[in-house]
Amino acid sequence: MRIGCPKEIKTHEYRVGVTPATAREAIARGHEVFMETGAGGGAGFPDADYLAIGAKILPTAAEVFETAEMIVKVKEPQAVERKQFREGQVLFTYLHLAPDPDQTRDLLESGVTAIAYETVTDRDGALPLLAPMSEVAGRLAPQMGAWTLQKSNGGRGVLLGGVPGVGPAKVAVIGGGVVGTHAARIAAGMGAEVTVLDLSLPRLRHLDEVFGSVFRTRYASKGNTEEIVADSDMVIGAVLIPGAAAPKLVSRAQLSTMKPGAAIVDVAIDQGGCFETSKATTHDDPVYEVDGIMHYCVANMPGAVARTSTIALTNATMPFMLALADKGWKKACGDDKHLLAGLNAHAGRVTYAAVGEALGIEAITPEAALRF
Ligand SMILES: NC(=O)c1ccc[n+]([C@@H]2O[C@H](COP(=O)([O-])OP(=O)(O)OC[C@H]3O[C@@H](n4cnc5c(N)ncnc54)[C@H](O)[C@@H]3O)[C@@H](O)[C@H]2O)c1
Repeated sequence: MRIGCPKEIKTHEYRVGVTPATAREAIARGHEVFMETGAGGGAGFPDADYLAIGAKILPTAAEVFETAEMIVKVKEPQAVERKQFREGQVLFTYLHLAPDPDQTRDLLESGVTAIAYETVTDRDGALPLLAPMSEVAGRLAPQMGAWTLQKSNGGRGVLLGGVPGVGPAKVAVIGGGVVGTHAARIAAGMGAEVTVLDLSLPRLRHLDEVFGSVFRTRYASKGNTEEIVADSDMVIGAVLIPGAAAPKLVSRAQLSTMKPGAAIVDVAIDQGGCFETSKATTHDDPVYEVDGIMHYCVANMPGAVARTSTIALTNATMPFMLALADKGWKKACGDDKHLLAGLNAHAGRVTYAAVGEALGIEAITPEAALRF
């Protein structure tokens, strides 16, 4: 199969859908890989690295779209990219169609077969192509919070690990899922005193069994949350209710109970955030202050560490990309119901029920799409 990977064009997106390592695997199986020149540059992969393993470099995105039978990307295609898809071509990338009627309309009009990273499932019902980005955001959260806590950045002037004779900072993590676990682990590793709050007792049990005394767990009742938030130097928001906006767990009034200059890192901001005072920020201007509390609310945190994020993402997408290339999308999806769960659109039809519902478009089942 001819696999194509254009350079990402969304502002400040430096990740790339195919690395030299994943291109090499595809080429070893007899496929061809066409990269737009400079596509991997932002993640530290120059054209020469792709050429060295036998990929071809094309001078424009248009030539990549024209040449490739399957396009592999990171972010949802932008309007100018969407015009270049055609029926019979496969698109494998993050799509997030439910809140995006314009993108959905364009993909349906093009007839492209679109498989979304974010709806591919695994045996446990989890989302294996979202998890790597949650791991990155979780591990990054204490690092960004530590920076926010520095006096020169408006923070409290507290060092996470303390020093001999000076106690460590207190960090609260609300939500002990993928983001929360990784955030807690790193914050504890930096020497902070960490408490993870979650509403799921099985989750708290699991964390306690795995991490022992590395950090504490508390049930996320209103009372416990209020008490721990007021006592913390940094609060990391990491809750998720699948398919819903994040619940607001800390009100504006509660900010006045917090320590002046404390830092909030609201990782759940991509679902609206779990603090009443959260609003999405960008890497250019990540932090703002409300009532003396510093808020870091970047909606695409993994973009800050584009190289790590690219490698983590492509480690997860590669087996699916290879299956799609080896077998063609129909057989690959027919053989693997978890990959089939990623199918969002085919030949002008929506094939993912929740996208159809959100946009008021009649959807067909992905199984039905395998028949035409
Ligand atoms: N900002 C970014 O760059 C970025 C990157 C990756 C993920 N995220 C977001 O981070 C959030 C967490 O993702 P995840 O992968 O860890 O999800 P997850 O499903 O693994 O974990 C969510 C946890 O929140 C808990 N929870 C739900 N409601 C709660 C409540 N009211 N109080 C306490 N705990 C509660 C759940 O029990 C679960 O353990 C999501 O909103 C995700 O979209 C943001």
